[in-house]
Amino acid sequence: MRFAVMASGRGSNFQALIDAHARGELPGAELVLLIVNKRDAQAVARAKAAGIPWAFIDSEAMPRAEFDRRALAVLRDCGADAVVLAGFMRLLTPEFIAAFRYCILNIHPALLPNFPGAHAHRDALAAGVSESGCSAHLVDEGVDTGPIILQQPVEVLPNDTEESLAARILPHEHRLLAEAVRLLAAGRLEVDGGIVRILPEK
Ligand code: GAR
Repeated sequence: MRFAVMASGRGSNFQALIDAHARGELPGAELVLLIVNKRDAQAVARAKAAGIPWAFIDSEAMPRAEFDRRALAVLRDCGADAVVLAGFMRLLTPEFIAAFRYCILNIHPALLPNFPGAHAHRDALAAGVSESGCSAHLVDEGVDTGPIILQQPVEVLPNDTEESLAARILPHEHRLLAEAVRLLAAGRLEVDGGIVRILPEK
């Protein structure tokens, strides 16, 4: 299965996939392309170091529909079967999502359906919860609403800041995202009535 990754910034989740792949932990999965929407995304340096082709599509220079059309064209050119959103901080159009129905993975730094959107850590701290975490899920038309694949709870400590909470959650994101890619590549994800069933290993 040919995976393309879309990222907007640092790219540590992308790096986790590169590393898991290098360790042989993603059988049947190939990382074929990185798409970034920000010129200065650090994810690009990671693609270069790993020898993965990359493309920059400037999301500020065009309307959303045009961005998604261009991204789809690049994805088709590289023969991508699936897309991983690894810190990709933009919504995708229904046309894009329909083109990769239940083949788009996202990693989100909260226990969905709690705290969707771009400020999950801030929102979790503001709500005073004692536990947050991260979720790997399939992407649908909503904002972080798609079927949940894997979740990991993480304790919120009394003196946590957005930064300290994010740092405690991040390693779990890396593990969950790689595991979700492994399951999708192995054909082990089935969606039934909006719920993911993880099929047993064949
Ligand atoms: C990650 O914490 C990811 O969960 C979050 O952005 C960060 C990207 O880090 N994504 C979202 O908040 C999406 N709603 P990375 O660039 O180092 O992978």
